[in-house]
Amino acid sequence: MPSVGVIGAGPCGLVACKTLSEWRIPFVGYEAGDRVGGHWVFENSSGTSAAYRSLRTNTHKAMSRFTDYALPEDYPEYPSHEQMAEWFSRYAAHFGLDPHLRLSTRVERATPTAEGRWELELDSGERVVHDALVVATGNLWDPRWPELEGDFDGPMIHAKDYRDPQHPIDSRGRNVLVIGLGVTACELAVELSEQGAAGRVFLSARSGQTILPRVPVSVPHPSDPLTGPLRWLPPPLRRPFFERAFPRVLARITAALPRPEEVGLPPVPANPLEKRVVLNDHVLERCRSGAIQPKPGVRRLRGAGVEFVDGSTERIDAIVVATGYRLSFPFLRESVPELERDGLRLAWGVRHPRHESLFVVGVMQAVCSIWPRAEQQMRFVAPFLAGEAIWPSRRVIDRATVPVLELPFGNCQIHTAELQRALRRARRAASRRDGGQGV
Ligand SMILES: Cc1cc2nc3c(=O)[nH]c(=O)nc-3n(C[C@H](O)[C@H](O)[C@H](O)COP(=O)(O)OP(=O)(O)OC[C@H]3O[C@@H](n4cnc5c(N)ncnc54)[C@H](O)[C@@H]3O)c2cc1C
Ligand SMILES: NC(=O)c1ccc[n+]([C@@H]2O[C@H](COP(=O)([O-])OP(=O)(O)OC[C@H]3O[C@@H](n4cnc5c(N)ncnc54)[C@H](OP(=O)(O)O)[C@@H]3O)[C@@H](O)[C@H]2O)c1
Repeated sequence: MPSVGVIGAGPCGLVACKTLSEWRIPFVGYEAGDRVGGHWVFENSSGTSAAYRSLRTNTHKAMSRFTDYALPEDYPEYPSHEQMAEWFSRYAAHFGLDPHLRLSTRVERATPTAEGRWELELDSGERVVHDALVVATGNLWDPRWPELEGDFDGPMIHAKDYRDPQHPIDSRGRNVLVIGLGVTACELAVELSEQGAAGRVFLSARSGQTILPRVPVSVPHPSDPLTGPLRWLPPPLRRPFFERAFPRVLARITAALPRPEEVGLPPVPANPLEKRVVLNDHVLERCRSGAIQPKPGVRRLRGAGVEFVDGSTERIDAIVVATGYRLSFPFLRESVPELERDGLRLAWGVRHPRHESLFVVGVMQAVCSIWPRAEQQMRFVAPFLAGEAIWPSRRVIDRATVPVLELPFGNCQIHTAELQRALRRARRAASRRDGGQGV
């Protein structure tokens, strides 16, 4: 069996380790922080967590479980970050992963060797070699900053460093501008607009988003690939069906809600598939009540104020930039630079198209929880590592190579079905190779 290096012991790295352990494939997990759980460990010593004090999941607990490890019954429907971190650490203990994990160990560089193996350089200076690499370092930790013209006199932070209305900026009595209209911007603007948390709260959105309350539990679990109407469709029709049906379903759900333009936000994009849906229970109502004042995009910073593209200006004391994250794999920057390019392209969303021993799990714009998807991805990968499936031709791999951050890829059920189909074929190929004796 090949030896595998897993980089990161957040939710996706843990499920990668657990799947390899089930397949009896030797592995070592390298984790920069001193605890497992990644983003869900508040103030993670690795410095990569974007969790703020009030953070709860926005994916329902019924769809945020692993297929063989549920969230505790006494957890609320949308657990807090403490509860999630605790649950991930129990998961690692339950499946006996801890002895295979090297905590407080950062991978500084990963380089392919001439034989197609991977040499890892650790922050201690030690070098180790593995036959295959599973990258599970997350894609929401390297702040994306907007280019803003002009100068600002007050404090300006990225949402990654926001902890609560008083840390790191004491917002009490101050006018705060939140830039962005993603989930983070909406949650922070809502929190800052609570009574007494800040002075006035402004929310600057340069473009519109579909905004929905937290998704009801009826959304199927990613491990259930053939739910609802998808079950009755031949596989090649499932993706086009989703692309046609999704906007209609959204239009039906949003019909009962205020339209963003009615409360002063930009209208939703004509094609809702262009952007991920924002889940937030309160932002529309807060904008309507005036507790949050919507503004368009920023034109320029003006010392103690900000000018917006509609020509209006406001006195602003502090800015929280919630403009998302860049895809970042610093340890592969020299050896596999294309990984970081926008629209990261991977075969079946998980394997590097050229390096057959390089896998990236958990990077996606999902319409579901992330780590159950990583579980499906690892169930796909493990049989190849164990030699029970063989990769198809380069042509097939190229056809299966998709930009993983594009939304249509985010439908978990379709993606799971595609992984399962490709795996069945690859296992049949291995079986033919083994003269029908294989799997
Ligand atoms: C504010 C916020 C809220 C979110 N809410 C949800 C939600 O409700 N539901 C959901 O499904 N998703 C949510 N997400 C997405 C989130 O990314 C996933 O929940 C999940 O954390 C992804 O797991 P991961 O293991 O891929 O990455 P992470 O949780 O980021 O874990 C990556 C791990 O890799 C380690 N690491 C990084 N680089 C190195 C290195 N060079 N060497 C060694 N270790 C390294 C880090 O220390 C970290 O422990 C949210 C994201 C954000 C920012
Ligand atoms: N409670 C939770 O579970 C929770 C909380 C927060 C976040 N999350 C998750 O974390 C992930 C990241 O969310 P996010 O909101 O941080 O990032 P995001 O989804 O990438 O949203 C970024 C926002 O910033 C805007 N923006 C980007 N660049 C800009 C620029 N240069 N100038 C002005 N605006 C700009 C974008 O607008 P454009 O569309 O115009 O580019 C978008 O509205 C998501 O998966 C989300 O679901 C979950």
